Amino acid sequence: MLDSASKAFFHLLARSKTLKTLGSRYGMRRKNSFARRFIAGEDVQEAIEAARAVEARGLMHTLDLLGESVATLDEAYAATRQYLEVVDAIAKSGVGRGISLKLTQLGLDVDKATAVDNLRRILERAEPADFFVRIDMENSPYTDVTLEIFETLWGHGHRRIGLVLQSALYRSERDLARVNALGGSVRLVKGAYKEPKTVAYQRKADVDAAYLRMAKTLLLDGHLPAIATHDVTMIEAIKQWARTERITPDRFEFQMLYGIRRDLQARLVKDGYRLRVYIPFGREWFPYFMRRLGERPANVMFVVEGILGEGD
Ligand code: FDA
Repeated sequence: MLDSASKAFFHLLARSKTLKTLGSRYGMRRKNSFARRFIAGEDVQEAIEAARAVEARGLMHTLDLLGESVATLDEAYAATRQYLEVVDAIAKSGVGRGISLKLTQLGLDVDKATAVDNLRRILERAEPADFFVRIDMENSPYTDVTLEIFETLWGHGHRRIGLVLQSALYRSERDLARVNALGGSVRLVKGAYKEPKTVAYQRKADVDAAYLRMAKTLLLDGHLPAIATHDVTMIEAIKQWARTERITPDRFEFQMLYGIRRDLQARLVKDGYRLRVYIPFGREWFPYFMRRLGERPANVMFVVEGILGEGD
């Protein structure tokens, strides 16, 4: 849950090199390893297998090749090449065509122009093949530049892209109006990062209240709106409000993360709602995994049991 101290703690751990090495050793080694609850595997074929299983349950998906905060241009080019291969592999496999990516994975910390160029290369391969490309939102130092890059690409005629807004940030309601006016697609989330009180609500109740306000604006004024949360209270409130506004379930989609609340995913689909699962995969899974632990410290017990149960 959005407890700010536990989020901060896990963000600190996410930067630990020792933990990353240990995690990489134990986390994904076997088919039943602990990290596999949240991550589909280390290579694209495993992700495609997971996507097939998701489709068999009547759900849609977006695939995320994990990676972020690369520190050199070589790493950024390598990530871009890998993404191009992922696009080709997905297209060849016949599963649904959607990917999510992060701008710091494409070199934003090193050189903005290169990151934009890398994203453009991916879009030029993905859009003609009918992919939808979602730019994930990273922590608040990247909000401005992410919006700016999204708007630049939109201005250049790219239409099969969307971005993410976080209800935790004070600014997000204004950003939502800005993206809605443009005609862009928003995935609404609460926000996975520990943020200072100068820019973000600290109390769960405030983040939730902003989430509900933004969800309503998104459903009324947005384009391909995506409501991304596992929070049953939010989901029920949004379903009920949409019914009273006569917004039918085909006009928006819910989104959830791979491995979280599968029961709720199934229930929504059974009730006629559209549901997309975010399927992360790849070798750089450690920071993503630590964010999931930070959201729900109960997950830590599951990891400890996993490690104890694995042996060497
Ligand atoms: P909340 O944290 O209140 O949790 C509600 C309930 O969901 C919990 O009670 C529990 O049952 C379940 N739950 C939540 N997290 C869990 C976990 N880790 N393990 C087990 N159960 C859990 N963030 C971001 O900053 N940028 C981004 O680009 C994205 N992208 C994104 C895509 C998609 C499809 C989703 C669903 C989420 C994101 N997020 C994200 C993450 C998001 O910001 C947020 O951190 C998580 O979704 C958790 O918040 P909830 O809305 O689920 O609510």
